[in-house]
Amino acid sequence: MRELKDVVLVGKHVGLRVDLNVPIEDGAVMNDERLSATLPTILEILKSTKNLTIISHLGRPKEGEYSEELSLKPIVHWFEKRLNLEIPLVKSLDELPNGISFLENIRMFPGESRNDDLLSELLSKKFDIYIMDAFATAHREASSTYGAILKSKDSVPGLLFSREINALSNILDDSKKLLSVVGGSKVSTKLEVITNLLSKSEKVLVGGGIANTFLKAKGFDIGTSLVEDDMITSAKKMLGTGKIILPERVCISKSTQSDDIEFVPIESVPEDKMILDIELNIKELSKKDYDAILWNGPLGIFEIKNFEKGTRDLVKYLTQSGSRVVAGGGETIFAISKYSDKKHFHYISTAGGAFLEFISGKKLPSVAALELK
Ligand code: 3PG
Repeated sequence: MRELKDVVLVGKHVGLRVDLNVPIEDGAVMNDERLSATLPTILEILKSTKNLTIISHLGRPKEGEYSEELSLKPIVHWFEKRLNLEIPLVKSLDELPNGISFLENIRMFPGESRNDDLLSELLSKKFDIYIMDAFATAHREASSTYGAILKSKDSVPGLLFSREINALSNILDDSKKLLSVVGGSKVSTKLEVITNLLSKSEKVLVGGGIANTFLKAKGFDIGTSLVEDDMITSAKKMLGTGKIILPERVCISKSTQSDDIEFVPIESVPEDKMILDIELNIKELSKKDYDAILWNGPLGIFEIKNFEKGTRDLVKYLTQSGSRVVAGGGETIFAISKYSDKKHFHYISTAGGAFLEFISGKKLPSVAALELK
């Protein structure tokens, strides 16, 4: 794939697809990390041309209908303040002014999500070059993330897109001894992720609800814990690789609402209690000198104080491990901001779904399209 530095932008009208899908409450941006992450690309483009149209989605509006609630207005306001510029927000591709502008939420345009040929064509024709920087939406085969790239005269990834691809490819393909840590509630949603990580990693530590299914597959009694019985066969197959690390001590309780909690060895889970968190075996982890660690998914119900220990201790371990740590996924990013500072990590992806698809080994549609340019 080429990079932004490989193209000349002087004198060109640039279309820039970014992912500005951030939480908005009462017209205010609640978390601006994704917005800040796009600034380097925007500033780099503005060094060469002032003709720039920024395109993004926000939420999931009904196509063809304007929704004030999902308008990009608060986001445009954030950029106006940051860039100290007035930036018009236009509702139609026929109204693009000269200079810098924002196009209203692209998901309000008919045909966006089904990669409509007409919309892709329209998007590509409006610009001399189409720059794709929305890595967090690279798993969607939509007009603005796929069709417009293919149909454009020229298209390259932006700086953030290239950084994401490089960081994730490097950890997966160039680590000598990779430890993967996968949490979350269901094996079924992470089956492809764990399968791919088993082929890339020295060990895969599992936690969260996912661990229960593996523990049951290994023959442990897990009481009333959440479990996916239809995943037991897959879990047994993965255990057969000898690479899965399971928790040895777990936090149990009668319910998520109860304050009556206890850490017990995995052999001692009573039939009327459930596993809601795990104890991280830091001594065991520290014995191996993993040069890289890849993390996705919490190890317990960390939103509830009683069940945050596993996830909190993991964040602490990761910041002190001395290994190259790469993390991603919505809840994972939230946990990192809750217990630490992202500056202690080698790389934190801005993506949720796209991160998961990438680490499961799938070719993302935007990547496939950019590789053809
Ligand atoms: C995200 O927040 O993960 C991306 O913006 C994609 O959003 P989507 O799941 O609505 O396609």
